[in-house]
Amino acid sequence: MGRVIERVARMVKIIDPSKPIFIGGAGVALLMLLMFSPFPTFPNLSDVAKTTILPEIDTIDCVTDSGRGFNLGHDPVDQTFYDDQGLSYSMGNPVKNWDEKRREWLKHHPSFGTGAEDRVLVLTGSQPWPCKNPIGDNLLLRLFKNKVDYCRIHGYDIFYNNVFFHPKMVGLWVKLPGIRATMLAHPEAEWIFWVDSDAIFTDMDFKPPLEKYKDHNLVVHGWPNNVYEKKSWGGVNSGVFLIRNCQWSMEFLEAWAVMGPQTPNYEKWGQIVASTMTDKPDPKVDDQSALVYLLLTQKETWGNKIYIENQYELSGYWAYFVKLFDTLSDKYATIEKGVTELRRRHAEKVSEHYAAVMSEAFVNSGSDWKEKRPFITHFTACKPCSGVHWGYTDEACWNGMEKALNFADNQVLRNYGFVRPDLLNTSSLHPLPFGFSSYKKEK
Ligand SMILES: *[C@@H]1O[C@H](CO)[C@@H](O)[C@H](O)[C@H]1NC(C)=O
Repeated sequence: MGRVIERVARMVKIIDPSKPIFIGGAGVALLMLLMFSPFPTFPNLSDVAKTTILPEIDTIDCVTDSGRGFNLGHDPVDQTFYDDQGLSYSMGNPVKNWDEKRREWLKHHPSFGTGAEDRVLVLTGSQPWPCKNPIGDNLLLRLFKNKVDYCRIHGYDIFYNNVFFHPKMVGLWVKLPGIRATMLAHPEAEWIFWVDSDAIFTDMDFKPPLEKYKDHNLVVHGWPNNVYEKKSWGGVNSGVFLIRNCQWSMEFLEAWAVMGPQTPNYEKWGQIVASTMTDKPDPKVDDQSALVYLLLTQKETWGNKIYIENQYELSGYWAYFVKLFDTLSDKYATIEKGVTELRRRHAEKVSEHYAAVMSEAFVNSGSDWKEKRPFITHFTACKPCSGVHWGYTDEACWNGMEKALNFADNQVLRNYGFVRPDLLNTSSLHPLPFGFSSYKKEK
């Protein structure tokens, strides 16, 4: 659209050079109106429009995702994996030679080629029906908004899944068939970033260091020691992970699903998995204990491609971080106060530039990495929708989420000129004066 507006603006100048130019939607709309009405004062305008503006609008601005140069209107007749009658989007029917098939598709869709090697798609979702808890739906909306904000800032696509692609793989197992189908729907994406609905991006600046995972296909938060020595089912957290869109993952998902509720041996697997762990309280196998089981029993097969990450919070434990959000807000405000560039107003689209400046300023401030905003704060054991909390009070869960959501939202709202001074009061909102990029709460 930018180029069209520029052209329109230039035309306005030609028509009436004495008037200041209004560049914006209303201006374009007015011009359109003028173009298509036989207005005697502008005899040449419709001719100019026909030759220069209209083809631009059709071929560039509506058809391509112009910001990223994707050609969204191009799908040649050449056969790809999509034309194979035997192709299945479901678990239980892994695609063969998926890497070659993906590569072939990309060859036919060259506009997706640039940047394909680290393209990320965020996958999240919730159950198809309304929440039991009356405020659950509002929370789910805000939890989703948080993910949409994060994706918009970093140019990631997002898919919110609220169906069960496999009728029996419900509850925590729902992510497996979801990933399986998304891999095929998005051959242009290299990584599927699964994020549980109750996990909140609380550092809007941070991006997973994909370069570090170039030899791995699954990245999950955890501690190798807790998996391999302690044999704990909490050794990893399967609520947030990156999985590469490749043949390995196609096969890994099948191996993982072997223990799922869709198999006739589900109960038997429950016993086997529980007996392998040292701390599994109930003999019902969930996706996380199944993942630990695979790591413990089939390390040779899968372990070398699985990166257990703990250098940043891919799945930060909420009960720990919620207490720190006020202090962290002040900490970052203090850093910003010392760096003029960080207090400069800017377009949201260029946020990554300021993220890099902040990252450097953080290091220069001599702060400990423990004082960093957690990348993701995960509300494990707080179920916002069902209203069940394993061992936590309603208040702790709701207040915690409120705080985390507002802490994250403040990082977004600053680019819109506002801030919430009170993290526990969603209604509170202040305009940010010039020269301020955050708000330091008065003590
Ligand atoms: C929350 O903020 C609004 C707007 O600033 C204010 O009117 C209201 O009293 C605040 N609520 C609480 C509980 O502090």
